[in-house]
This record gives sequence, structure tokens and C-alpha cells, in this order.
Amino acid sequence: MTPSLAEQATAILRVNDRGGYTVPTKGLYPYQWNWDSAFAALGFAAFDRDRAWREIETIFDGQWADGMAPHIIFRKNDPSYFPGPGIWGSNTEPPTSGHSQPPVAATIARWLVETGAPADEKRAHALFPKLMAWHAWWHRYRDPDATGLVSIIHPWESGRDNCPDWDPGMQAMTVPDDLGDYHRRDTDWVDADERPTHWTYDRYLTIVKFGRECGWDHERIHRDGPFLMADPCVQFALMRADRDLHWLAERFERDRDRRTIRDWIARDTDGAQALWSDAAGGFVAREMRSGTLVHAITNASMLAFYAGAGTPAQQAELADQARQILGECRFGFPSWDPRQPGFEQRRYWRGPVWSVMNWMIAIGLDAAGHADLAARIRRDTQALVGQSGFFEYFDPLTGDGLGGPDFTWTAAIHLALDQEFGAAAAA
Ligand code: GLC
Repeated sequence: MTPSLAEQATAILRVNDRGGYTVPTKGLYPYQWNWDSAFAALGFAAFDRDRAWREIETIFDGQWADGMAPHIIFRKNDPSYFPGPGIWGSNTEPPTSGHSQPPVAATIARWLVETGAPADEKRAHALFPKLMAWHAWWHRYRDPDATGLVSIIHPWESGRDNCPDWDPGMQAMTVPDDLGDYHRRDTDWVDADERPTHWTYDRYLTIVKFGRECGWDHERIHRDGPFLMADPCVQFALMRADRDLHWLAERFERDRDRRTIRDWIARDTDGAQALWSDAAGGFVAREMRSGTLVHAITNASMLAFYAGAGTPAQQAELADQARQILGECRFGFPSWDPRQPGFEQRRYWRGPVWSVMNWMIAIGLDAAGHADLAARIRRDTQALVGQSGFFEYFDPLTGDGLGGPDFTWTAAIHLALDQEFGAAAAA
């Protein structure tokens, strides 16, 4: 008998388990990734809550002294991935990458407490100071002038690596003559037309070189680094996670932290307005040095509901855009608006659908009273896996599975939706 999809998803989590943490998929991504692990915890929660907590806790094994939870932890050197620990030069133990990724761990931790038992509460209590330090890092180092708008210093920090959102920041960059030769490993595993181009990779490595050479001095990188943009995904994930952290702080009676978090929330709610584009009818990316907005809707724009960002009129406009874009696709929600130039249905974050984004988008749409849109997104997410398997991402027009197979977060979100995790999430 063929195993059910839920059984297959469980088997994928087990196969990708390296003992306390999972790899996103074997081969292509042989290390621990920050937000992948937060979502993986949701999948483990379907059958092993202790293992779910381990997955979140191990994200913080790599936490830096300044509070940053890095985007990759390199527990052992694996030559099948580039750029590895030597290129990053983090000088930390374990070695890590030099920047972060969208902060979703506090949101998942709150959810585990809300749906759990005293044991869950204990784990969250022990984790709270680490979460708090990480959020403080975002507010301090990515918004040093306290504008309420957090920046990213590398497209990889957004988790949406090659989205056209980053084109203005990447085009403005000069690639140094001494960048050196390198051998990418990602295209050994996946078709080059489903991955970022060489032009893009040169610029990714230009930023890493700058970071390594200044010893990952994040004040300096924010001020003088080759790339500085604001990302609706990071901004909205952080706003949401701040609210969830506040909920935990209340529960643990941490009054001083509560006040701090309340200030962050108030500031970021104002700051998010700097991402609004009338032309696009939504919140979009912004190049920080020139102030240029990228006037196009992405799946990250749709996280405004999840964050509780925007006025009622802005949210109504965004819901209207969601309907129009879904009308263009067999499967939602695409990572780039198909009505815009630059849409590529198979290339990574330039069009394809990603399960984790859909999970967050649907929670937000439900909370904002758009149950029909939320149901469509959840249905599409499950249908994609049913049609094509547990791929890294999917073609929004055909449903083809793309990128790496047997993918941890796609399996985890399948299990979460199967068990209706987050279906009735509190706002
Ligand atoms: C890619 C994705 C990123 C993810 C990583 C591991 O870099 O863009 O969001 O965390 O792969 O799955």
C-alpha cells in the first residue's frame, strides 16, 4: 500500500534529521538553516513535541554574543555546499554564516505553548532570553536609527534569495576585481534555470567578502556595506514575532521586556508605512540608500495581514490584489506578480510558490476576515504536494515540483495543514 502523504511527510522529517536538527534536504543544503528549522518544528509537533522543541532550541546553538541567530550553522564541513564556513569566516564555534534570516521562531514557540502542556511552557521559559536577545539584535543592528523599518544586508537575509525585489540593490553594487574564482555547488544538484544566475552569485559573494573583511561588524555593514534594503518578509515576520514574544513575556511576567517589546511594536507599525506603494497597491521592498520602492506585489507583501500591518483601506486594497493575482495562477501564492515583467514561473523566488510563505499568508488572511482566500491558499498548498511531491518550491501555473526533493519545510507544512495547525491562530 502506498503510504499516505502525512506518512511520507513524517518519513522525510526523519530522514533529514541529523540528531537535534534537520537539514532542509540532503545534498543541496547539508547544514541547519534558521527559519527552515522553525518551520520544521511545526512538522515534528504533529508526532513528537520534544523533538519539535529541540529543533527550535538548536537554532540558538549558533547564537552570536551580540544576540544574532545566524542563517546557517555549519556543524561540520561539507564540501557539497558553497559558500561554506571558510568563505564566511565567522570566527565562532560552531562556525556560522554572518547574517540572519526572517525571525519566526518566537511565533512557533508561542504556538507550541498555546496548544501544549506545562512541559511546553518550561521549554519556552528557558528559551525566552535567547529569543529576546535575537529580537533586540534586529531592532538595534538592522534599525540603528530607530525608524521602525528594519533593513537586510544580504538578499539571503530575506530568505527570498533571488526575488526581483533585490534587483535595484544588486544593480547598484560594484563587484570587486579580486572577488576570485569560485565553484558553485547548487547547480550540481538542481537545473541552472531553477536557480539564481552567475551575475547574482557574484553579488552575493561581494557582500560576504565585505562582511568577512570587516569581521562582521554589523554597525559598519549597515552604514557602508554593498547592499541595504528593507524587506516586507523580514519586517512583517518580525512584527508578528514581536507580538508573539510579547505574549510570552506577559505569560512569564517579564515586565521590563514587555515594555521594551511594546515600544518595538509601536515603532514598527509606523515604520512599515515606508513600504507602502500606491502604484502596486501593497507593501513592497525598498532600497534604503536611494529610498526607491520596488512597485510589485510578492508573497511577502501578503504577510501584512499576518503582521497586522496597514490601515483598513490598505488591507482592502491588498486583498483585492490577492484576488487578482490568484486569478492569474492555478496555484497560489506566487513569489512574484505574474502581471509584472520579470516573472519566471520556474526560477526560485521569481515566480514559484513556497509552502512556508503560504502557511503564514493563510493565517493572516483568516485573521483579517478573508477566510475564502485563506482556504484557497491552504488548498493549493496541499494540492501541489499531492500532484508533485514534497519539492522545495512549485510552478504556480503548472504545479510542477522544482528545486530540491524530499524537502523538510514542505513536509512540515503539509503536516501542519493536515492537522490544522495555525488554522485558528490568535491575532
Ligand atoms: C534557500 C531559500 C531560503 C532557505 C534555504 C534553505 O536559500 O531561499 O529561504 O532558508 O534555501 O532551505
